[in-house]
Amino acid sequence: MAEQQEPRLVSGRAADEDGRLDLTLRPRTLAGYVGQARVVESLAIFIQAARERGEPLDHVLLYGPPGLGKTTLAHIIAHELAVAVRATSGPAVERAGDLAAILTNLGDRDVLFIDEIHRLNRTVEEILYPAMEDYALDIIIGKGPGARSIRLELPRFTLIGATTRAGQLTSPLRDRFGVISRLEYYRPAELEEIVRRSAAILEIRLDRQAGAEIARRARGTPRVANRLLKRVRDFAQVRACGEITLEVAREALELLEVDRLGLDRVDHKLLRAVATMFGGGPVGVDTLAAAISEESETIEDVYEPFLMQLGFLKRTPRGRVLTPRAFRHLGLPGPEPPAPLFETGEGE
Ligand SMILES: Nc1ncnc2c1ncn2[C@@H]1O[C@H](COP(=O)(O)OP(=O)(O)OP(=O)(O)O)[C@@H](O)[C@H]1O
Ligand SMILES: [Mg+2]
Repeated sequence: MAEQQEPRLVSGRAADEDGRLDLTLRPRTLAGYVGQARVVESLAIFIQAARERGEPLDHVLLYGPPGLGKTTLAHIIAHELAVAVRATSGPAVERAGDLAAILTNLGDRDVLFIDEIHRLNRTVEEILYPAMEDYALDIIIGKGPGARSIRLELPRFTLIGATTRAGQLTSPLRDRFGVISRLEYYRPAELEEIVRRSAAILEIRLDRQAGAEIARRARGTPRVANRLLKRVRDFAQVRACGEITLEVAREALELLEVDRLGLDRVDHKLLRAVATMFGGGPVGVDTLAAAISEESETIEDVYEPFLMQLGFLKRTPRGRVLTPRAFRHLGLPGPEPPAPLFETGEGE
């Protein structure tokens, strides 16, 4: 019954030019993966140990903000294990049967990569529990009192889950991962290396200072670094003679409205909204989202984490609050001190 509909897979999705470039910019080996030293070092050990024992690697959960290299790392792990990788994503697996079909088609020790794993629906997720724990699939045959369950053996495999929201995983799912790795924002020196490497692959003439400037403004994120590099290249091609110098980079970034800390137009809009419309906060994320016409989820996943890392925004139980540092960066006066609750000299 499941065979007429091939589960939708996202492995071959890169259609637009940037997407294709992204594929060529992706490092293929752990050695080529810049930064995330702790994660890489421990993964290298687990991978080697699993290979020496001829066993599949334990299930791995990768989490962290978008664009830090979770998908890249998942493919690298499969490559280092010398096994095939099957890639899909939480929302693409709609029915339990879809996942069952994928699982039964895996080869021994293969990697199954599920992106956005927090978006798997519950019935699909429940298939994963015995699959992860015992490499088994429990199938219910028949209905009502006559129904019985049979257990199907699956190939031994490694599940790699990626998510920007580890907090949204159910605990039974989270507990079944043997390795849980959090990816952190990259340091400027690491991003500089990534920008230099990408420039070499794309045959872009980039001078050292310009590379450092792009890296500094890339919000700690390789995907942003690569994107800025490509846009600056366009600028250099049209407005300068193709070479990216510090001056060209600065001008281009100005045009792109990326400030010296890497904040873009949406970051500014968000910070200004909290400052001016909500008196510096606290303001709830949904209210804020409505005020600046963005989705709450995008604010929470993409914008907020970096603003918090910069110390510009704080999360409090009553909502988001802007810090004095953010006011200074925006060139705005700080919030007014709260009015006294009681007029003095009256009442008790
Ligand atoms: N450690 C790294 N070294 C070099 N380049 C990297 C590294 N990590 C990521 N990149 C580059 O950044 C791009 C984005 O990485 P990737 O798609 O793996 O991020 P992601 O964490 O899966 O993002 P999302 O959460 O949006 O799916 C890649 O195409 C790759 O070129
Ligand atoms: Mg990804």
